[in-house]
Amino acid sequence: MLVLGIETSCDETAAAILDDTGEVLSNVILSQIKLHEKYGGVVPEIACRKHIEVIDLVVEEAVKSAGIDKKDIGLVAVTVGPGLVGALLVGATFARGFAMGLGIPLIGVNHLEGHLFAGQMEHKELRFPYISLIVSGGHTSLVKALGLGHYEVLGRTLDDAAGEAFDKVAKMMDLGYPGGPIIEKMALNGIKKAYKFPRPMINDSSFDFSFSGLKTAVLYQLKGYGGAVAAPLKTDEKTVSDLAASFQEAVVDVLLDKAKKAMKYCGLETLSIGGGVGANGRLREVFSDAAEKEGWKCFLPSRNLCTDNAVMIAGIGRARFMEKKDMLKKIDVNPRLPL
Ligand code: KG4
Ligand code: ZN
Repeated sequence: MLVLGIETSCDETAAAILDDTGEVLSNVILSQIKLHEKYGGVVPEIACRKHIEVIDLVVEEAVKSAGIDKKDIGLVAVTVGPGLVGALLVGATFARGFAMGLGIPLIGVNHLEGHLFAGQMEHKELRFPYISLIVSGGHTSLVKALGLGHYEVLGRTLDDAAGEAFDKVAKMMDLGYPGGPIIEKMALNGIKKAYKFPRPMINDSSFDFSFSGLKTAVLYQLKGYGGAVAAPLKTDEKTVSDLAASFQEAVVDVLLDKAKKAMKYCGLETLSIGGGVGANGRLREVFSDAAEKEGWKCFLPSRNLCTDNAVMIAGIGRARFMEKKDMLKKIDVNPRLPL
């Protein structure tokens, strides 16, 4: 059974095809970054319009580059939440029409479950149970994943998501959008210990996160608050690089600390990371080193499977369909769909 996955929950229009063994035949991602960057963030109305404009082209391209005949597709999986309601509706409506036209089943997929499952799409040796660290623009969660559909959220962010903090800090320094990749690039030449930023909630016994105080600490440093006289920092390249490196290190430190504690608490030795922040080179390095040192396995999907994509949506849709044959006849989108 060939599977078509469709993802339109935010600012990427994506489609992917899996073959009957679950291998990836195509993975097409049309990013709208260029359209949103001048606004410093995703504008829902613009995202929605662009999805409408390109969804059929993206799906056509996925079919074409997979080298298959559309009529051979046996299942459509589509993201139904969480995400921007208008954007989700475009994907879900298109998917419904596509599946109806071919007379094939349609399954609604949770975007977060997609991120949780992304590692399994590439690493066949990754199997439940494991701890999943989902670090994206909208979510930061530690999840005990016991089996398909059996998830216990151990902790989540109480305010900003990790990716959101990257985006906001980049915005403060006028670096552009999205902030994650830009901060990562600037941090390459920066000194990680140049600024002593807080590691929020690192001594808290819960598995929750909080990144808004860290973001404010960067802002205060920039504005020069805290001294007798406020003297804003000069935002030359060296200063920005040091701020970026110090901020990034604080985020990664907190994520690693909480992930370590969660693994210990659950007695699990396998960790899988998903979501856009998982593409961060420093995070990948620190987690890989820690895994080697601690003797656990850390699975990091390749960068384009960390950020939003339809491979993970097709994958989790396929797995769920095969296990339970549970398909949603009515595809209702839910912008706040929980895991
Ligand atoms: O998973 P994703 O593509 O979309 C959501 O589901 O939110 O994540 C997007 C987030 C953005 O906040 C972006 O700045 C961040 O992931 N991101 C990164 C990197 N690449 C993307 N953060 C840090 N380093 C990166 N290299
Ligand atoms: Zn995502």
